[in-house]
Amino acid sequence: MKAKQLRELYFGFFQNKEHALIHSASLIPMNDPSVLFTTAGMQPLVPYLLGQKHPAGKRLVNIQKCLRTVDVENIGDNSHHTFFQMLGNWSLGDYFKKEAITWSFEFLTQKKWLNIPLANLAITIYKGEGKVPQDTESADIWKKLGIAEKRIAFVGKDNFWSAGPTGPCGPSTEMFYWTGKEKAPATFDPEDKRWIEIWNDVFITYNRDEKGNLTPLTQKNVDTGMGFERALAVLNGKESAYETELFSEIIKKIEKLSGKKYRDTKREMRIIADHLRAAVFVLGDEKGIVPSNVDRGYVLRRLIRRAVRYGKLCGIQELFTSQIAEVVIKEYGDEYAELQQNQEKIISELEKEEEKFARTLEKGLREFTKMASLTDVISGEDAFLLFQSYGFPLEMTQELALEKGVTVDEAGFKEEFEKHQQLSRTATEGKFKGGLADTSPETTKLHTATHLLNEALRRIISKNIHQRGSNITAERLRFDFSFDRKLTKEEVQKVEDEVNRVIRSGFEVRREEMSSDEAKQIGAEMEFGVKYPVRVSVYFVGGYSKEFCGGPHVKNTKELGRFKIVKEESVAAGVRRIKAVVEEQ
Ligand code: ALA
Repeated sequence: MKAKQLRELYFGFFQNKEHALIHSASLIPMNDPSVLFTTAGMQPLVPYLLGQKHPAGKRLVNIQKCLRTVDVENIGDNSHHTFFQMLGNWSLGDYFKKEAITWSFEFLTQKKWLNIPLANLAITIYKGEGKVPQDTESADIWKKLGIAEKRIAFVGKDNFWSAGPTGPCGPSTEMFYWTGKEKAPATFDPEDKRWIEIWNDVFITYNRDEKGNLTPLTQKNVDTGMGFERALAVLNGKESAYETELFSEIIKKIEKLSGKKYRDTKREMRIIADHLRAAVFVLGDEKGIVPSNVDRGYVLRRLIRRAVRYGKLCGIQELFTSQIAEVVIKEYGDEYAELQQNQEKIISELEKEEEKFARTLEKGLREFTKMASLTDVISGEDAFLLFQSYGFPLEMTQELALEKGVTVDEAGFKEEFEKHQQLSRTATEGKFKGGLADTSPETTKLHTATHLLNEALRRIISKNIHQRGSNITAERLRFDFSFDRKLTKEEVQKVEDEVNRVIRSGFEVRREEMSSDEAKQIGAEMEFGVKYPVRVSVYFVGGYSKEFCGGPHVKNTKELGRFKIVKEESVAAGVRRIKAVVEEQ
């Protein structure tokens, strides 16, 4: 079966059932900065699952671009991809289990559609837990349609589906296809890897909050997902999607560039093909982004750089990523016009990124080999050096380390990274403290609270304590400081009490500009490792604390409310971390 045919059959089937065909949404979620990429078809539809009216109606069908990075290490096996496409049909408070399951059954088994023999199908059903009962209704529907009882398995959390820890969710029933060479066993064993999941019908009926509580939704929804790559592979009797037309031209190009055969370098070529296809879709998205060292840009950078390393491992000598991109755009551009529209950007960004990295890769690898020959644990400083000077993402260093049988001090790396970020932020923004997320009233309060905590630690615990890092969001402060052991419960309590005492005292907060030398002379607190400019601002909290800082701060400590330490933990050798919040009195 051809890719185009599968897509059109699916759309046609559901359009016959009055579903409106909608476009894939962007790979980059619209209103949710906490989610890096769209990981499932339901994400862009969340408001409609919660009750908002969709302009196209209550029945929808689509193919959604998705990107999942949770199991990047698995890429190269038969069934994982970072970028993939998901076919889905949707009921937004319209039809429910009976129709959804019956239509899944018809589409899979009827001659006119996929024509899969019943003998090759099996089903999982949610077995229930806590407030959510076992889904006997779905089981009954499947049985009535002709699925043998022995081919139905009741399972736990795998059949309760959600896109993330909070939001719309519900029990699901999944369909499995037999891929073994021999006849499918009469009894279905969901652990048997020869059964491959091809479709998932989720009955989105709950909303989960931060505490994990489930509240029934006002409307009953159906969210289904059929992984396009996987479905095409199994329907064509292939081991993986890499052996289907979705990848064949890309793999051919890699074979040509490397002079090697796919069958001899399967894993390497699959990684290159997967990562560069994903990179093309991220760069070419309607809301496309470019490689960088943070968030989405960093994921993109990791994908491209990993592909470049695997290119080298395959023996590719020349710059090649943009050549692969041209094939991807040719293969997918008809279906996804944005790739054609953004072709120039895709090519030039890939060329830039690859050139930059190719220059340092060899040297970095030599440096890494040296490091790994001297120790079992690559230190945070060394991992940071590889990152900073040779452009190795931490994950790449970790992968190299794994290959050599050594490990990487990840916490140490993160500490170096943060220290460095603060240095550059200080330099570019004239800010004297790092990690301030915004200047809302919440963060402003927490910023002042950080000064009080810093001083209280020195007064109550040890005068040798100094700041090593700070990060503030609207919800909490996070303060790293030098100290070489865990604080006792009593100490934590004493520090908290001290900060609250100062808050209640109602000290004025005052800012003064002075030379850096003057500030040092008066003993203003500064962060170790941060370079300060010649003129600095110093914040005074009454006569209690004085610190180099760019602000902003409250005017009086009384505004802070109640201060509460929620966690005290270790971040690295000799560095502790406190997380704390302020609450209304
Ligand atoms: N949202 C469901 C999934 O991704 C259909 O499996």
